[in-house]
Amino acid sequence: MEFKQLIDERRSVRKYESGITHEDLETILRAAQRAPSWGNRQTSKCYAVETPETLEELRAAALPEGNQKNSTNAVLVVTTFVKDIVGFRDGTPANEIGNGWGAYDLGLHDAFLILAAKDLGYDTLIMGMRDSAAIREKICIPDNEEILSVIAIGKRAEEPAVRPRKDFEEVVSFI
Ligand SMILES: Cc1cc2nc3c(=O)[nH]c(=O)nc-3n(C[C@H](O)[C@H](O)[C@H](O)COP(=O)(O)O)c2cc1C
Repeated sequence: MEFKQLIDERRSVRKYESGITHEDLETILRAAQRAPSWGNRQTSKCYAVETPETLEELRAAALPEGNQKNSTNAVLVVTTFVKDIVGFRDGTPANEIGNGWGAYDLGLHDAFLILAAKDLGYDTLIMGMRDSAAIREKICIPDNEEILSVIAIGKRAEEPAVRPRKDFEEVVSFI
């Protein structure tokens, strides 16, 4: 897909008719891995949940009702970053952002992920409303990783409206 079209057509989808093939999922996750990161430390990680039984258990245990319903039929990717590496020097924060830099890198990773998914004809929903303790227990995520989002990926079963953006001048300053 042409890049501008991809940007224009991507939106959060809250109704799925099906998930994604393993091969396509791997292609998308490999594209996400190409995202830049602080010092090329690559602390972003993801756990792709494809097994139907585990998917249903995770959805029920870790997502609030709305996100459970909106991600039905989609595959789920839990994204995490390894703490205390990115943004740190000799074990201490390099500046005031600290582990915020790990979250920054993971956000870039996830941006690559959702755009790569769109490019292959899939849609996504990033979900920040999730129970991280339940996720950690269910799929055994180590304590040194911060769990950020759960991303639903699948074939859309709705054509969502474009969500408006703030006025450009409100958020961008040319100085
Ligand atoms: C970090 C993050 C967390 C989000 N969490 C949720 C969520 O828990 N549930 C949901 O339905 N949408 C969630 N969204 C989707 C946003 O609501 C959506 O991106 C925003 O309204 C803009 O719409 P668009 O993605 O269609 O352009 C989240 C998005 C981001 C980036």
